[in-house]
Amino acid sequence: MIPFSPPRIDDKIIAEVVDTLKSGWITTGPKTKRFERNLIEYTGAKSVLCLNSATAGLELMLRWFGVGPGDEVIVPAYTYCATANVVIHCGAVPVMVDIDTNTFNLDVTQLKKLVSKRTKVIIPVDIAGLPCDYDAIYEFINEPAVNSLFIPNNEIQKTLGRILILSDAAHSLGAVYKGKKTGTLADISVFSFHAVKNLTTAEGGAVALNLPKPFDNDELYRFLCVLGLHGQNKDALSKTKGNWRYDVITAGYKVNMTDIQAAMGLVELERYDSDTLVKRKHIFELYTSYFKNDSKYIIPVYENDNFKSSFHVYLLRIVGINEMQRDEIIQRIYNRGVSVNVHFQPLPLLSFYKELNYKISDYPIAYNNYMCEISLPVYYDLSDEMIFQVVNAVKDSVDEVLNSK
Ligand SMILES: Cc1ncc(COP(=O)(O)O)c(C=O)c1O
Repeated sequence: MIPFSPPRIDDKIIAEVVDTLKSGWITTGPKTKRFERNLIEYTGAKSVLCLNSATAGLELMLRWFGVGPGDEVIVPAYTYCATANVVIHCGAVPVMVDIDTNTFNLDVTQLKKLVSKRTKVIIPVDIAGLPCDYDAIYEFINEPAVNSLFIPNNEIQKTLGRILILSDAAHSLGAVYKGKKTGTLADISVFSFHAVKNLTTAEGGAVALNLPKPFDNDELYRFLCVLGLHGQNKDALSKTKGNWRYDVITAGYKVNMTDIQAAMGLVELERYDSDTLVKRKHIFELYTSYFKNDSKYIIPVYENDNFKSSFHVYLLRIVGINEMQRDEIIQRIYNRGVSVNVHFQPLPLLSFYKELNYKISDYPIAYNNYMCEISLPVYYDLSDEMIFQVVNAVKDSVDEVLNSK
């Protein structure tokens, strides 16, 4: 069986994790701090905070910004549920926007009809690792007619003076937009290091801070360390260093990264550009070479003059099929020994959001892209021979289902 996306666990990762286990310090400590510094160097962000997930990072930042009941946050209809669930956790309303057919990313031209005086944040999602059009998003929020709608509710919102752009960069570590890496493209960007991601720490995430002046990103980092650890003004390591006494300054959360997770991240980050992304790009290009001349397939966009993806998910589309045929194709691919996937079910298709009255008919592009989409395996240990096997399994299954119409 060819799996969909197993993690790369080799001797280097195992040695670094074992080193942490033997060090006597397994929760947040020196390795987490080193991983944060390395992520700053890698992305160019002003500051980086590591956490136990991207979900925690998104929620922490919404709460820091003071998002709550009465507020609206614009999210794409086509994303993983985490992007919208965190808005619900804060008591605010996710306002969904349809996507652009070619890129699968939110359609900036549709923001105008959705923005209101309740809009506090937009969460663009870099689907499959492809950065959104951040210039167009900033141009939109800075339009006088849009900016004048913004009503700040607290000092932080007053200081920013406009809608916050909180990028869900769960897929896009290492992706580039107009010469700049993700982590520097939005006010705040959140990466995921979940087990299926390009760079994994089993579970994990990071918040990259890039807020404009007069915000002090380092000072905010120090505050977020406190907010992400029960509001304690000292972490566990500092408390062991003689001056044990600590205070709790707010009822904070418990979302810190452990040094065991950071150990994996340190190894993964060191070889990310030189090895991981090179391999993933090769896999994308090989898939494309097999599918591009067959008019039954729409290959994904992942590189042009303006952007370069992080090659996270290969979103293949099959022309003219419906949802049932897609599912039948997936079953046949599986029967041929290949595990594929679908990214994503648009949120209005999911029970919780359906019950809140979101309607898939309001998001026709999201539905059209979803119904004919199949995500192919992409991972470090996938060989060219295995890719050939995947391609044959896909093509044979598609032909069978199309011929049985
Ligand atoms: C687009 C998107 N956002 C957020 C997340 C949440 O990431 P995590 O599992 O690290 O919380 C995911 C996870 O798959 C995702 O795909």
